[in-house]
Amino acid sequence: MVDVAEKSMEELVSLCKRRGFVYPASEIYGGINGFWDYGPLGVALKNAVRDDWWRNMVECPPVGPDGDVLQVVGLDSSIIQNPKTWEASGHVGGFNDPMVDCTESKKRYRADHAWVVGFHGGEEDADSNSSSGVVPEHFYAVVADSKETAIEAAKSEMPKKFAKRVADATAVTAFDQTNLAPDWPRLSPATQTATLTEPRMFNLMFETYVGAIRDEDAKAYLRPETAQGIFLNYKNILDTMRVKVPFGIAQVGKAFRNEVTPRNFIFRSREFEQMEMEWFCHPDDALKWYDFWKHERMRWWKSLGIDEGNLIFRDHDEDELAHYSSACVDVEYRYPFTAPGYGELEGIAHRGCYDLSKHTEHSKQKLEFFDQTNNEKFVPHVIEPASGLTRGVLVLLCEAFTPTPERKGSKYVMNFPARLAPIKVGVFPLVNKDGMPEKANALYMKLREKYVCQYDVKQSIGKRYARMDEAGTPYCVTVDGETNENGNVTIRHRDTAEQEQVHIDRVEEFLGEKLG
Ligand code: GAP
Repeated sequence: MVDVAEKSMEELVSLCKRRGFVYPASEIYGGINGFWDYGPLGVALKNAVRDDWWRNMVECPPVGPDGDVLQVVGLDSSIIQNPKTWEASGHVGGFNDPMVDCTESKKRYRADHAWVVGFHGGEEDADSNSSSGVVPEHFYAVVADSKETAIEAAKSEMPKKFAKRVADATAVTAFDQTNLAPDWPRLSPATQTATLTEPRMFNLMFETYVGAIRDEDAKAYLRPETAQGIFLNYKNILDTMRVKVPFGIAQVGKAFRNEVTPRNFIFRSREFEQMEMEWFCHPDDALKWYDFWKHERMRWWKSLGIDEGNLIFRDHDEDELAHYSSACVDVEYRYPFTAPGYGELEGIAHRGCYDLSKHTEHSKQKLEFFDQTNNEKFVPHVIEPASGLTRGVLVLLCEAFTPTPERKGSKYVMNFPARLAPIKVGVFPLVNKDGMPEKANALYMKLREKYVCQYDVKQSIGKRYARMDEAGTPYCVTVDGETNENGNVTIRHRDTAEQEQVHIDRVEEFLGEKLG
């Protein structure tokens, strides 16, 4: 298996475009930063992840820690809600990122992602004390998600003339621009000079106007998370669905954030999809459920075939908890652009009764639960596993992407688990004559009833295999000279490029064993 740290994002992004997984949005107009379109194979992969999540969360939810089958119901709420929703949830006042501007290049950065890395030179620097300890001899500014990746990026990006100093450095440290030591320069990654402004707060919600008049009263927001639609429907579901606490409400859908610095392909975009579930429970049981969902969510990601070594848990420090959360743990993945470090894939948050209490306060509607068995009324606490669907697609793309320099023809293979692969079977005639197209087409017409198949007659067989390898198609079936002689077709396995002969009448049985 190829280490994810050795995979090139540039090559992956190029394959995604070439094979119809992901295109830059509005490309013919020069694109639009932070927006992406999912092509024919990308939408199939995204739907496969979404359907697996929905199946495991709503249709067949797990058995809980007490041995009971959990109750989770689905929802599809509106993207635009009454704007009071976002005042109550705290997003109007608190959903901000600090941003800094470079006065020279006019570039804008998220302050907590714009790092200054300081390299302490030789012995002579060691005496010059400052508020940050030792004043570094040399500074370099980079954009990165974490301190570790900032230091690695600075080491590899710095011009050659500093290379010796870096090699000689006795210590390296880094501060982001929200937390910069007072005697460090506010360096811009664009200019490498102190041309950055002080951080300013920037609200991430996209605004729009409902109706014909564009005034403050008509202002509304595109939802920055799917979660609030769930809280708004808590009472409806309780009143109509015969559920009782503990239970969950799950939703998959678009969310919009006007990110200051969208980047790393589809990792951080301005329009993306989330898969969120709010688990309503008794306050006394909240920690038990937090622990349960934390492990259940990790189990699910692993069930998609993601290598265990590329996934970790990371507990949030107190100072990074979102405004609504009293505890949060992230499931993180080792992306090629974070390696050797990890980046967020999903957050499992203990939201307490923050949201239901806030919506009660703002709407004057009681959002409680009455437990008839114990004659007790309470506001449920909420555990929220919140993941990015589009970020999950990125993880599967990174995980599957395998350079194959040893193979003739195919430079890359996308080795998705067969059940998630956008195309399951390629069906080809070896050549476009001698009765092969007719036989291959008849086989295709039969197989397409059961599997997503692609029939292809164009170009050499090697090129067709290479195309299917990049699409991640687990099996290709070729009708060739043998078929005319003894009825055998050639089945090629994507992961090994091995070929085997199977009688044409047994192809369905063969695929049934492999693909189910
Ligand atoms: N309701 C809680 C919530 O929205 P979050 O950590 O802000 O929590 C949950 O978002 C997940 O949504 C993240 O773990 C990530 O996978 C995904 N996500 C958040 N912002 C994103 C962005 N700008 N682009 C792509 N995915 C994003």
